[in-house]
Amino acid sequence: MSMATTMIAIKPLFSPLTHHRSSRNARLHHHTTRMPLSLNRVATRLATSLASAAAAPPSSAESLVDDFDPELPIEEALTPPSSWYTDPSFLDLELDRVFYRGWQAVGCTDQVKSPQDFFTGRLGNVEFVVCRDDNGKIRAFHNVCRHHASLLASGSGKKSCFVCPYHGWTYALNGALLRATRVHGIRNFDVKEFGLIPLKVATWGPFVLLNFEKDVSPDQEVESDIAAKEWTGSCVDILGNNCIDPSLTYLCRREYILECNWKVFCDNYLDGGYHVPYAHKGLASGLKLDSYSTTIHEKVSLQICEGGSTNNANDFDRLGAEALYAFIYPNFMINRYGPWMDTNLVLPLGPRKCRVIFDYFLKDSLKDDKNFVERSLQDSERVQMEDIVLCEGIQKGLESPAYCSGRYAPTVEIAMYHFHGLLYRNLKG
Ligand code: FES
Repeated sequence: MSMATTMIAIKPLFSPLTHHRSSRNARLHHHTTRMPLSLNRVATRLATSLASAAAAPPSSAESLVDDFDPELPIEEALTPPSSWYTDPSFLDLELDRVFYRGWQAVGCTDQVKSPQDFFTGRLGNVEFVVCRDDNGKIRAFHNVCRHHASLLASGSGKKSCFVCPYHGWTYALNGALLRATRVHGIRNFDVKEFGLIPLKVATWGPFVLLNFEKDVSPDQEVESDIAAKEWTGSCVDILGNNCIDPSLTYLCRREYILECNWKVFCDNYLDGGYHVPYAHKGLASGLKLDSYSTTIHEKVSLQICEGGSTNNANDFDRLGAEALYAFIYPNFMINRYGPWMDTNLVLPLGPRKCRVIFDYFLKDSLKDDKNFVERSLQDSERVQMEDIVLCEGIQKGLESPAYCSGRYAPTVEIAMYHFHGLLYRNLKG
């Protein structure tokens, strides 16, 4: 990562801390004249950091945004230029204005089913840990030790507390600093001021959502309905009634690293089934592609396709009579078909790299049918592998001097056009 990238990437990290520290900052400010030198330095550094956090993103990225014109009707519009998919400063702008604002899906409730369960993750430069505390409350924190910034936890599992692997500072699952090792002689140090920095967390259905934008106190609760409305815009009921079936059981997770920009995967998802007959011949035989329809909502697009006639009864068992593909802006997809639901979370890892996490849910009565489960997952995996080859090839094409912008197929790529328009509006701030 370049220095410029690092500086921009740091910026939003401080944003969630601002309010949390504000009472402390107010105290620091109030006592300025009597402040010990070391605390003066801390205050100065914090002020400098916050000032740089408020600095504008590079103008080069801002100017790239205007290379797309969302006002043109889809019949006349050009797709966003390749720089949106290749320029590192553009990803910084996306992190700042898209991913660090509003709610983002980061995992599912099954990962924190019982007290002391936890999982970790990263979005942009934000390392986070989500856990269920001893009282059953789900909490989320920056996964960073307050001593010298070591990452505290890794992966997922069960912990009664977070012990820093570097020097052993120990935090409770509610974020409080329980133990600071070997700090005898330290002055002006209050353990209450050095708990983990909380993040706003909510759940909706089986999904865990984080909000990196707003400041939060450790005990703040967020109503799931409020978070869901903010996350999905006007689509809570539609998704609740058509996509999210609480009777489905969480089955497993598959993760893929793709050598392409995160939007390449989203675009591929949002082309209204355009690529399916060419790139997924096996899948196409199980779908009635003529029936494909797309509905656009504020932050959600819904693509629906009927199951097709197939020679293979197993295909029909897996795909059912209708497949529903819901895209929740900016990077989350819910696929409902037959007895299955799977979700796809796309996380940028760099301008040309992303991680895609698939979580699979299945009708409870079928979860022990090993043949069916294995066959279905293999079929799904085949589609993913076909998409990965496609997406990585597209990224190479985007890097070529032969390509700048493309065109939309107006009758099928309406969801992609809507996605690009939403991005444009967010990126304009
Ligand atoms: S960095 Fe965590 S205890 Fe030192």
